[in-house]
Order: sequence, then structure tokens, then C-alpha cells
Amino acid sequence: MNKENMKKNIQKLIEFHLQYALSSYKLASRAVALGWDGFHRWFQIESSDANVHTRRMLNFLAGFNISYDIPSVNNTNDYNNLDAIGMTKAIKQIKEDGLNLCNEIYNDSLQNNDLVTARFTDWYVHDFFAEIDFANRIINKLKNGSDTYDLNAELLTKEEPDNVSVVQPFSRWGE
Ligand SMILES: [Fe+2]
Repeated sequence: MNKENMKKNIQKLIEFHLQYALSSYKLASRAVALGWDGFHRWFQIESSDANVHTRRMLNFLAGFNISYDIPSVNNTNDYNNLDAIGMTKAIKQIKEDGLNLCNEIYNDSLQNNDLVTARFTDWYVHDFFAEIDFANRIINKLKNGSDTYDLNAELLTKEEPDNVSVVQPFSRWGE
């Protein structure tokens, strides 16, 4: 066990998710300004998802008796000029940044003989991939002439995250 390495890497992922939660709320607020209630709901769900993802990390560290630090985050992102496609590209960019961070953590963990953290990070890779795929589908629909009104209606029916399976550090993806 390389507890020092576990903490170092998971702290980075925690900070990333705190930013992700705040950015999602900012996007949600922008959606309200545009009158898109479905997009508003989607970005609220994204923020909940970021918090549930964070609980998974906190439980991971706590399970090994590693205390965690909650940093103060200063979120300077400004989404106030974005339209529906711009907001969707912004949330997709967050997921891509998250995936890059997971790559970094995965490689660092393996280099430091920390298979536990590498395996733990794997779940986030699956999850970010699915979420990028979802955002791409929305972007493609908008690019190819789909009505934002219909998409907005579709987003009103998007599923809420399943908290119970997500907060357990070693539950498998999609279960
Ligand atoms: Fe997620």
C-alpha cells in the first residue's frame, strides 16, 4: 500500500470535482437565463453527479483510514455568453479534462506501485467516457439541425444519478 501516493492523487481528483460541481451550477444558471429548463436540469444533475463522484473518493480514502482535505476552490469560469451548443461543449470539455487527469493519476499510480488507486481510477475513466459520448450526441444533434426545443424536452427526462452504487468505492461501473 502506498498511502502517501493514494492521498496525493485522490486529492487532485477531489479538487477537480469541486470545480466541476461549481462549473455545472454556473452552466445551470446560464441555462435559466436562456429559458432552457431541460438544460438547466441536466447541469443540475451534472453538479449532483460531481458530488456523488466526490463521495466515492472520500469513501475510498476513509476506507484506508486516510483523512482527506477539502480545499477552498476559486472557480473563475464564465459561461455567460454561451448558447445551448456552447454550454454542451463546455460540459464536454470538463469531462475531457477529467479524463486527462485520470490518465495522469493512473500512470502515476502504476509507476508508484499503487495498483489500488489505478484500479479505483478506472471507474472514472468509464464514467467520463459515457458522459463525453452523451455530450457528443447532443452536440451532433444540434449541429445537424435538431431543434433545441426538442432536445431541451428530452433533457427534462434524463435519469438522476444512482447515488447508492456510486458512493461505494469499489462498486463496478454501471451497476
Ligand atoms: Fe458521472
